[in-house]
Amino acid sequence: MDFPRILSGNWETPDSHRLTVARSRGVYSRLPKALGMAPADITAVVKDSGLRGRGGAGFPTGMKWTFVPALEKRKGKPVYLLCNADESEPGTFKDRYCLWLDPHLLIEGMIIAARALDVRVGYIYIRGEFRYIARRLDEALAEAYTAGLLGKNILGSGTDFDLYVHVGAGAYICGEETALISSLEGEKGQPKLKPPFPAVEGAWRAPTIVNNVETLAVVPWIIENGAAAYKAIGTEKSPGTKLFSVSGHVRKPGVYEIPLGLPMTTLINEYAGGLLPGRKLKAVIPGGSSVPVMTPAEVELCSMDYESIQTNAGSYLGSGGMIVMDDTTDLVAALTNLLRFYAHESCGQCTPCREGCGWMYQILCRVRDGDATAADLVTLRDLADNIHSKTICFFGASAAMPVQSFLTKFRSEFLDRVQGRGAGAA
Ligand SMILES: Cc1cc2nc3c(=O)[nH]c(=O)nc-3n(C[C@H](O)[C@H](O)[C@H](O)COP(=O)(O)O)c2cc1C
Ligand code: SF4
Repeated sequence: MDFPRILSGNWETPDSHRLTVARSRGVYSRLPKALGMAPADITAVVKDSGLRGRGGAGFPTGMKWTFVPALEKRKGKPVYLLCNADESEPGTFKDRYCLWLDPHLLIEGMIIAARALDVRVGYIYIRGEFRYIARRLDEALAEAYTAGLLGKNILGSGTDFDLYVHVGAGAYICGEETALISSLEGEKGQPKLKPPFPAVEGAWRAPTIVNNVETLAVVPWIIENGAAAYKAIGTEKSPGTKLFSVSGHVRKPGVYEIPLGLPMTTLINEYAGGLLPGRKLKAVIPGGSSVPVMTPAEVELCSMDYESIQTNAGSYLGSGGMIVMDDTTDLVAALTNLLRFYAHESCGQCTPCREGCGWMYQILCRVRDGDATAADLVTLRDLADNIHSKTICFFGASAAMPVQSFLTKFRSEFLDRVQGRGAGAA
């Protein structure tokens, strides 16, 4: 299939992270055009392109940008642009490729977004474990400053933009945008209730746009080629290409850029090389550990876009972190492992999440070890139902949905582990 590799096109070029190499590949070539455009026109192109945020929720990027209050309504407050490079979701490992192999593409995207949003200061918030990538980003920023691509009066355009790398302490919850903002401010990285949404009141109570790495790195291509060219790729409601990180029981795990709307089986069997010899597909988590699991029958029905996965499998494209599990997988053990993560990462503000994640993990350990009764499965389901949508942030639902979907779609596997150990399974 013929499609532009918008995000990964430079990854195989040696030293692609260096400014001279990046420039030879066209990075920063869109800046003169963008810096000559009226800010509202940049936002309009991004909005028309149909680009949807790649951090997980798929929220339309251009629309989010229009939520920033106009200058006269901001009461002198600045606008901040934050790039979310926290990427801590199990199964998701795409942003680190963009950051490591093409940091200048992200910087170019952030400069264009800053121009659109009247931003003078931006931050790349990166997870604590990515210190080696943060060092590379700092080098890229230094190169860009020296070349006059950052700082005052960028390329003589009158646009000023300073960009900093901020390293977190390695907490999954700091990927949630309000927690990220608190952490950046030097506070505990804990989410806040929305509204107000960050676009209206975010960092230091000023309007703040938080976008994922991949989202921002696409912007230069859209400016260069136009909204119609972007919309011509992918599907009507899910335009463009997207990065998918595929892991688990496939021959070629890795990060693949594909046009949205490609059959899920093509991604698994062709791009990721298919399953190991003699193995059968058992389950797939399509979009990072937080989304509901899918059965092989659902996989056959779905294509890799936001609508298809939701309609045909009740799951989500999410961040694009696909985990493939073959028939050797103990799904009870797999879910237990996931809940260990959520129990550890809950920030502890909400009782259902703080207590419930730990309880779900404890019950699952008993199921896995053959020490549970069928009534425990009822309690497990009840806990998940009482966490979902009853918490400050979406973390609660993210922990509940795997439990709910594994119990529903692979029920017999759980019942087999508790049979004869008591009555009451719903
Ligand atoms: C628990 C949790 C973790 C998250 N982690 C990330 C993350 O690592 N990276 C990311 O871009 N978005 C993450 N998000 C989503 C962000 O809150 C936010 O929606 C996103 O950064 C917006 O960018 P986008 O519009 O470009 O998708 C997370 C959300 C939750 C609830
Ligand atoms: S849902 Fe969990 S992670 Fe989110 S604010 Fe509440 S306790 Fe913290």
